[in-house]
Amino acid sequence: MTKIKAALFGTGFMGRVHTEAVRRLGNVEVVAIAGSSDARAKAFADETGIPRSTGNWEQLLEDKSIDAVHILTPNHLHFPMAKAALEAGKHVICEKPLATSVVEGEALVALAAKTGLANCTFHNIRAYPQVQNMKAIVEAGDLGEIWAVQGTYSQDWLLYDTDWNWRIEEGPSRTFADIGTHWCDLAEFVTGQRISALCADLNTFHKTRKKPMGSVETFSGKTLSPDQYTEVAIETEDFASMIFRMGNGGRGSMTASQISAGRKNRLALEIFGSKGGLMWNGEQPDELWIGKRNEPNQLVVKDPSLLRGGAGKFADLPGGHSEGYDDTFKQTVRRFYQTVADRGAKIEYPVFTDGVRQLKIIDAVLKSSTSHGWVEV
Ligand SMILES: NC(=O)c1ccc[n+]([C@@H]2O[C@H](COP(=O)([O-])OP(=O)(O)OC[C@H]3O[C@@H](n4cnc5c(N)ncnc54)[C@H](O)[C@@H]3O)[C@@H](O)[C@H]2O)c1
Repeated sequence: MTKIKAALFGTGFMGRVHTEAVRRLGNVEVVAIAGSSDARAKAFADETGIPRSTGNWEQLLEDKSIDAVHILTPNHLHFPMAKAALEAGKHVICEKPLATSVVEGEALVALAAKTGLANCTFHNIRAYPQVQNMKAIVEAGDLGEIWAVQGTYSQDWLLYDTDWNWRIEEGPSRTFADIGTHWCDLAEFVTGQRISALCADLNTFHKTRKKPMGSVETFSGKTLSPDQYTEVAIETEDFASMIFRMGNGGRGSMTASQISAGRKNRLALEIFGSKGGLMWNGEQPDELWIGKRNEPNQLVVKDPSLLRGGAGKFADLPGGHSEGYDDTFKQTVRRFYQTVADRGAKIEYPVFTDGVRQLKIIDAVLKSSTSHGWVEV
């Protein structure tokens, strides 16, 4: 069998996770990696056994044998990389957020439509079996009319002013764009409803931070000494909160935080309707709480045979065998490459238009936080 050939751009946290996810598929091989320098790319390639490496991603786009590209770099590079990759005829997976503005995102959607190439904005949270289960339960009408949608996405890795990452200097939004968009994509995906208007409040608790002299990759900046820093002013937010209106009258609230001590990566979503409720938390992804008024509540443990609708197809292991974060990458790239192999196959992953949707929400959040008022999305 001829394998589909993929190149990855970025050698950090996502570079590693996507490499492993692609290798779990069988019909796709990682043939090349691009990093921020030849040396970084080579070190990654040597460690992971990728045959080709380069510090110049544009070189890989000239290679006609490469079918698809994964963009796993800081956000400001998503637009130029995705644009150039589509122009070079490559199918594109782009990490979220798709771009740094709605204008850029819409240009990518137009280019993807013109070229007819497969495109994905990597909102992988959709691919948890219990997330698919929630969606099937909502679609079956078990919750009745959706009234309240609420939740949090909380992390603590940027709690101290000595914590540093490229995200801190990349605006216009940081915490909301980085993790708030995952939450909003999830809430809209599961409920099938859209956030129609919102009122947001962003805050930067650390007005200055101590920036390391050297580069620091994601989640790895905890061990530097004081003489290795320089003090810089910070404009991106540490914390975002918003209330919103949804669909035909539903109401909601959410917070996104990178300064919540003890919360490592807690994405929690609660949905309450006229007949029942649901709660799911990404730190215990195999469990789904089903809330009832006149019967005992249920705690459903992931078991493909007990998941509703098509959710069982997002679980590869039998009940009681945990499936987590890594597995959502496998499930998403598997479906992406099914559509690369068969351009008529059903699209079961988030595409560039879903990425633009989140860019519009970011835009509204920024406008609302500045004007202290409600903004239509
Ligand atoms: N879907 C998810 O769950 C998820 C999780 C984390 C990050 N992300 C997204 O993935 C992207 C990368 O985040 P990360 O956490 O892996 O960051 P990271 O800092 O760990 O890795 C980024 C990598 O990009 C490399 N890079 C920088 N400039 C480059 C260039 N010109 N050419 C090639 N490589 C270059 C850096 O050297 C680094 O290795 C971001 O857009 C982020 O929002 C998504």
